Amino acid sequence: MSISSSSRIYLDNAATTQLDKAVLDEMMPYLTEHFGNPSSTHGTGRIVKSAVEKARKTVASLLNTSPAEIFFTSGGTEADNMILRCAVRSHNLKHIITSPLEHHAVLHTIEELEKAGEVKVHFVNIDKNGNVDLNHLEELLNTISSQNERALVSLMHGNNEIGTVLDLKKTGEICEKYNAMFHSDTVQTMGYYKMDLQELPIHYLVGSAHKFHGAKGIGFLYVRHDAGFCPFQTGGAQERNMRGGTENVAGIVGLAKALEISFAESEAHNKHILSLKSRMIEKLRTIFGEEVDFNGESGNLETGLPKVLSVQFPKSDMGDMLLFNLDIQGISASGGSACSSGSEIGSHVLTALKNDPSRPSVRFSFSKYNTIEEVDYVVEKISEIYMPVLAK
Ligand SMILES: Cc1ncc(COP(=O)(O)O)c(C=O)c1O
Repeated sequence: MSISSSSRIYLDNAATTQLDKAVLDEMMPYLTEHFGNPSSTHGTGRIVKSAVEKARKTVASLLNTSPAEIFFTSGGTEADNMILRCAVRSHNLKHIITSPLEHHAVLHTIEELEKAGEVKVHFVNIDKNGNVDLNHLEELLNTISSQNERALVSLMHGNNEIGTVLDLKKTGEICEKYNAMFHSDTVQTMGYYKMDLQELPIHYLVGSAHKFHGAKGIGFLYVRHDAGFCPFQTGGAQERNMRGGTENVAGIVGLAKALEISFAESEAHNKHILSLKSRMIEKLRTIFGEEVDFNGESGNLETGLPKVLSVQFPKSDMGDMLLFNLDIQGISASGGSACSSGSEIGSHVLTALKNDPSRPSVRFSFSKYNTIEEVDYVVEKISEIYMPVLAK
């Protein structure tokens, strides 16, 4: 059940999602009567400590792994930073293989490690839809391992802007063959794709609750038992000395509940959001014919991330005016990645795909709370805004 009755239409669910009422209910006692500090040894503290550990167990069991491999953080950005910086240092890794399509939480961190002279960065080739060239990945790994060095491979699971999805199992198997460590930014797929960590050959992955109807400012990382590293944040013994700082107890309890709901309902929700996406594609095709395109794999109902539809509109001088006009009509969507909204620079992902800048792109992203009626209304508004421009 939704907890907001805003009259706006929210199609920016890759940026953040609405808190589920059941998640809020689970969090409330830890914002009110159970206010203790989990590090306190008295009863008030022990109650909340046990809630944190119960949440860790829930997350671990949903991912079929051990609670000792789950660490809570403030979200996806911190988890990515922690993995990249600590894995490089603790495992003496001199090479990172990544792609130009990663989120800035990964790209900027890697840039910094390179600038500091800690690693050499290799970019794997991608195709026009942002799919990683796994043969090229293998070539890069072969070269690095033939120099008796070990690489860290950091490739995201689901792209937040263009909905292209990586085959985690295949990629992990290639990494395993060359003894490389494998990190995947799974922020956009956590809670939407079932992940069995007994099956997946992966060292590190991450989750952020606000992407699956939990609260903002709470996330986690999975660190495989043989891939541990030095503490990231010092100054406290929390998270088994790995990340000092008093825990966000309500956020943690809510994250576990949100993930539980997402896993239980992912099939039904994915089916629902795919039907919304399919409707939008069909309606846009009726209006624009072959002149509308879909970035990456977002227009592919089989391979793309269900929630993301990145639409490339016909050539015009509209620029950001389309997004601006949709906003005025009460429709929230995003141009490129919402994580960097406010910055003057265009999307690094669409730039890497060599998109034509004269064709405006808008990312619509759906959730379980959206309806077919909302999609129909949004397409009607797009037509009203865009058709007069095209007719000129
Ligand atoms: C792929 C990806 N990684 C990382 C992040 C950052 O997560 P957080 O907002 O929890 O810091 C985002 C947020 O949009 C994302 O889409």
